[in-house]
Amino acid sequence: MKAVYAVGQGQTAELKLDAPKPAPADNEILVKVFAAGVNPVDNKLITYNFTGLSFPRPIGCDFSGRIEAVGANVKGWAVGDEVFSQTDYWNPTSFAEYLTIDPKWVARKPASLSHVEAAAFPIAFLSAWEGLNVAAQVYPNDTVYIAAAAGGVGHFATQIAKIKGAKVIATASKPENFEYLRSIGVDHVIDHSKSDVAAEILRLTDGQGVDLVYEPSYVNSSLQASAKVVKKGGVFVELGSTTDSLPDVLETIKQRGGRFVQVSLPPLYYQKQADHFSTGLSAVQDLVRKGLKVQIRKVITLEEAPQEMLEVMKGASGPGKSVIRIVNDA
Ligand SMILES: NC(=O)c1ccc[n+]([C@@H]2O[C@H](COP(=O)([O-])OP(=O)(O)OC[C@H]3O[C@@H](n4cnc5c(N)ncnc54)[C@H](OP(=O)(O)O)[C@@H]3O)[C@@H](O)[C@H]2O)c1
Repeated sequence: MKAVYAVGQGQTAELKLDAPKPAPADNEILVKVFAAGVNPVDNKLITYNFTGLSFPRPIGCDFSGRIEAVGANVKGWAVGDEVFSQTDYWNPTSFAEYLTIDPKWVARKPASLSHVEAAAFPIAFLSAWEGLNVAAQVYPNDTVYIAAAAGGVGHFATQIAKIKGAKVIATASKPENFEYLRSIGVDHVIDHSKSDVAAEILRLTDGQGVDLVYEPSYVNSSLQASAKVVKKGGVFVELGSTTDSLPDVLETIKQRGGRFVQVSLPPLYYQKQADHFSTGLSAVQDLVRKGLKVQIRKVITLEEAPQEMLEVMKGASGPGKSVIRIVNDA
């Protein structure tokens, strides 16, 4: 089968045309992959190898597809069921025509989404959902600030906050991203490359700050500005970064009387907390019914995936997500 392989740490991935087709273990399903979403982590796994992968090996996390075989001990799933989720950071395998996975990690693909759309959800959506629905809550009429709001994670976070009835302030720097954020109902869009973000948010909130900050930027200057706008009793949700500024950020939040909470998917996967993945993805259908729309930045082929992985890690332009279409009309 065709599969994108990571060749070695720090090297670029490459397409392999004769990769072995996996066979499901007794507790696994075999999934024919129709589409696979690209995330910054795909190339970070190769560049930094923070999960200790051995190379060469398949790569890729997000996927949407159809069950082609079920292991002897699998219950509740049948050949033909359509599923979406992400594979393990310690065993990423989704940029391929087939993968195997224990079905406790997957959810049923909503019928209203194409496979290309569904494959754009798992990592980015779950990161937003964990932050705004599990680790913290958004209430109607809250004021929420979302940093890096037009990105894969940010565009889901922004829409979840709007659907929950919040007023949303968001940052971006590219013109196409401003336009996109206005189109999904953001109340105030700030250009982080030109404005003093903290001063602007404090001005918009009469000096009070916001009820909730969601910070998926991984950028020191952004995190530092965001810490200055959490209001007394408010919450600052940060997405798993280990940036140098974290001690300063924590101190600023403490001084303002806010609460800091960090969410991150790799520890949840490592701790085998599969329900966070299957339950979180099961929420997608209802949110789509309430108006959530995934933004697809680019649809590419498996051949184009190694280059796109690099671009997405560096920070791809335009709102939303890049997705690999593996099966025609997926
Ligand atoms: N730990 C976890 O579980 C986890 C899960 C998912 C993602 N992540 C990480 O979270 C980060 C975001 O992921 P993503 O998929 O959303 O990436 P993405 O799609 O590339 O989005 C990043 C966004 O950051 C914005 N940005 C660029 N420079 C900025 C700056 N100086 N200040 C503020 N915003 C800036 C960009 O918009 P403009 O260019 O318009 O500013 C872009 O929309 C990545 O580092 C990713 O690896 C971690």
